[in-house]
Amino acid sequence: MPKLTYLGHSAFQVQGSGGRIVIDPFLTGNPIAAAAANEIEVDHVLLTHGHGDHIGDSVAIAQANDATIVAPFELANYCEQQGAKVHPMHIGGAFEFPFGRVKLTIAHHGSAAPDGTYTGNPCGFLITMDGRTLYHSGDTGLFLDMKLIGEMNTIDVAVLPIGDNFTMGIEDAVKATEFLQPGLVIPIHYKTFDVIDVDPQEFVDRVTAAGFTAKVLEFGGTYEF
Ligand code: NI
Ligand code: MN
Repeated sequence: MPKLTYLGHSAFQVQGSGGRIVIDPFLTGNPIAAAAANEIEVDHVLLTHGHGDHIGDSVAIAQANDATIVAPFELANYCEQQGAKVHPMHIGGAFEFPFGRVKLTIAHHGSAAPDGTYTGNPCGFLITMDGRTLYHSGDTGLFLDMKLIGEMNTIDVAVLPIGDNFTMGIEDAVKATEFLQPGLVIPIHYKTFDVIDVDPQEFVDRVTAAGFTAKVLEFGGTYEF
């Protein structure tokens, strides 16, 4: 069973029998980070978009681990220019990596690197490891195609932003949960900054009332799925 470790904000480490990955490792400068960048040992870094609170320490982690960054094409090119090994993909495409299968999904958001370089369209990820599927939506507003993603995939765990302002807020993330029908939903992208300081327990209560299972994973907390 893959093991998920929540590093805070949108960052997760996922370990399966075929390898270790980190998603959106914004650790340096993240007030809620549950690990330092130099503690991360992975073979792949998955990046949803170029914003600083997602690209974070990606290039440094990739270089230190000789790991490959998996990202949408334009963002992968940017990371390659910064000196990282990359595997470019794009929305709708899937690829079998040694650690598991990754499929890129749409996300309604922006994507530019901290230096202002435009890095194409943002994405979400469907990640299947050891026969279990994780959906990381990336930063996004609610979209109806989540219903299709839920219909076409058995999602064991979904991690969804709830912080509002830049992404879905609680109400929309509850609707997203209804569309996706995941075995478990974990709220992310809250508390890091003042403008996204919402109460994750309110989300859990409302998801529970809607008939689904949600869990607040503390920063540094782990979950096997
Ligand atoms: Ni963003
Ligand atoms: Mn963000």
